[in-house]
Amino acid sequence: MLFFRPPKVDCGDKLRMDTVYTRLQESARFIDSLIPERPAVGIVLGSGWQGFLQEIETPQEIKLSAIPHLLPPWARQRRGAVVVGKVSNVNAACLDARLHTYEGFTAQEVAYPIRILGMLGVKTLFVTNTAGGINRTFPVGSLMLIKDHINVAGEDPTRGEEEVELGPRFVDMSHAYDPELIRLTEVMAKGLGIRIKKGVYASVRGPTYETPAEVGMLRTLGADAVGMSTVPEVIAARQMGIRVCGISCITNKAAGLTKGEITHEEVLAVMNDVGIKAFKLLREAIRGYYK
Ligand code: HPA
Repeated sequence: MLFFRPPKVDCGDKLRMDTVYTRLQESARFIDSLIPERPAVGIVLGSGWQGFLQEIETPQEIKLSAIPHLLPPWARQRRGAVVVGKVSNVNAACLDARLHTYEGFTAQEVAYPIRILGMLGVKTLFVTNTAGGINRTFPVGSLMLIKDHINVAGEDPTRGEEEVELGPRFVDMSHAYDPELIRLTEVMAKGLGIRIKKGVYASVRGPTYETPAEVGMLRTLGADAVGMSTVPEVIAARQMGIRVCGISCITNKAAGLTKGEITHEEVLAVMNDVGIKAFKLLREAIRGYYK
């Protein structure tokens, strides 16, 4: 064993005080002291999805950097906030930006804000992202409901010392993306006249985009889209028994499927074009679920 574990001597509360769970309690208590009502639904906004913040009524913004324990010391300058308010009359807490493992955060750090939402009482989580389309029938600009994922990056926030308060040691992922939420979101999309795809999301570590050979590999594995986020959040949510709905915006064809290069600017520009449609779908999915 190469890493250091504190000796399990009986120093009572001192040893018990610094667990992920006790830190989460402090983080959640801080937010709870500032907001009028606890959220039922959590939302994570991926790159370019920030326009969704307009859909939040009576928004109250709490900076991530103000929340105890949320960011490691080296990341305290980072922007980002939890915006609490109502979406379609449902109490919601929305993370306006996520943490990524490619920024140097561990999977546990990436999942930490989700765990706070769970501690605050969130029972349903909507995760959004942008992704490269591997499935040739998914046009650029389409929205894809995530029906399952492949954790190619191998990042898992549940790894490490067991803390029973966070949920089971071995988390079942058979229904990582809630079938009922998928069905309902499809119904809502139909009602809005929005054509959506359903597919498997492969998470890679990034931040480099894939090579064409890697994209070929991911297709062979069964992936329809590829991105660099989301999976650690979904795992942490499932560990806490939170139901998840995932929506990807296909912002580009994955590497090797077109002659052009992939750029982050292109990703943001496509997301900008798709925005209104995407935000409407997210809002209606929440309304449909809670009505
Ligand atoms: N690959 C990985 N992540 C992405 C892509 C991609 O092509 N597009 C948007 N996010």
